Amino acid sequence: MHGAFFCFSTAQGQRILATGMEKDIKSLFLSNVAQVVGSPSALVVDRAEGNYLYDPEGKDYLDFISGISVANLGHGHPTVVASVLEQVKKHMHVMVYGEFAIGAQTKLAQKTLEKLHPCMERVYFVNSGTEAIEASMKITKKYTGRSQFISFKNSYHGSTHGSLSIQGSDKYKGGYYPLLPDTHQANFNDFTVLEQITSKTAGVIIECIQAGSGYIPAYPEWINAVRARCTEVGTLMILDEIQTGMGRTGHWFAHLDYGFCPDILCLAKAYGGGLPLGAFVAPERYMNVIQADPILGHITTFGGNPVSCAASLGVFKGLEEEESLMESIPVKEEMIQTKLVHPNIEKISGKGLMYCLWLKPAIDGFEVIARLEKCGLITNSFLFAENAIRITPPLTITKDQLSFGLNSILDVINDLS
Ligand SMILES: Cc1ncc(COP(=O)(O)O)c(C=O)c1O
Repeated sequence: MHGAFFCFSTAQGQRILATGMEKDIKSLFLSNVAQVVGSPSALVVDRAEGNYLYDPEGKDYLDFISGISVANLGHGHPTVVASVLEQVKKHMHVMVYGEFAIGAQTKLAQKTLEKLHPCMERVYFVNSGTEAIEASMKITKKYTGRSQFISFKNSYHGSTHGSLSIQGSDKYKGGYYPLLPDTHQANFNDFTVLEQITSKTAGVIIECIQAGSGYIPAYPEWINAVRARCTEVGTLMILDEIQTGMGRTGHWFAHLDYGFCPDILCLAKAYGGGLPLGAFVAPERYMNVIQADPILGHITTFGGNPVSCAASLGVFKGLEEEESLMESIPVKEEMIQTKLVHPNIEKISGKGLMYCLWLKPAIDGFEVIARLEKCGLITNSFLFAENAIRITPPLTITKDQLSFGLNSILDVINDLS
């Protein structure tokens, strides 16, 4: 029955079961895969290579978002692929987290710690960003004996219950209450938070560049003051570097440029080099709370999957071998800042290769994103920045490619103006 497919109706609507699925991936995606938006772009991606995605007809799309902030070395980077293949041949999953000494995991923990401040002593591997945040919150509660959390307005830290509780907007919380009690959202870059952080506060969840609100960089003096206040009152500072990590700001991790050390560092996205991987990193004294009274304080089957860890090691190696990638970020940043000037552009915000283009109300951001996709450029929106375009290309993007993308954005804005 090659190429044939069967349709039938269910109570929820029409469901399509197919053989020869390649025939119509788009409609199968829309009917069989659970949807989170009303009208997704449903671009059918056949393959991805370097800084481009390709549809089944071979049309190329320049990747201006790295899907999102994941493919820092572009797609199919030879060093990452080689590392993954080598690991697949050795072994894939063999045991739940924390029982066996898995080579890829162990080497990755060592490599990660090598890039961080010596105050960081242990790495715990999970599968995603939200899991890293959840586990960090658990550790923080147990270590401090407190339960209050402070996060920041318009921040996004994940979609599971703990992360949702600290999300910096009520927009996506409706229908999911009750969430965790005693969670508070302060204003980002506002010094009044220093008074809100007290000896009752277990943890502060913070970002160096707040992603969900439109890539807003923290003022160095502000984030350092938050660090100092946390130390003063015994509150743990949980730093979310899920988007800013792995060279995206021109540093291995953004906080290294700010000059402070968090208590717990959360990683994911580019850390896994395109495979699912997250981690939280902390001094041993904090990690000890999940090892005793009772043991198994946080466990996961697939956390630190050997193949994902191998991909991550490949990203570290690739970035070490191509030092120029991080070094070239300021030049590319300047291109973004100087090129994106137009009467219908309100402003741009960001740092490193993470930029937000804020449009004036005359231009509809979603229309810009849709038109750009048709022109072969992949961009995206933000959760909490209204009428804005996300620009976070792979670090491997060339100046010519960047120029093409920025010109395409201006062309579309011109067209709509
Ligand atoms: C800053 C930040 N934190 C946490 C998360 C959650 O990560 P994940 O989607 O891997 O759960 C995201 C995801 O977009 C993020 O951007």
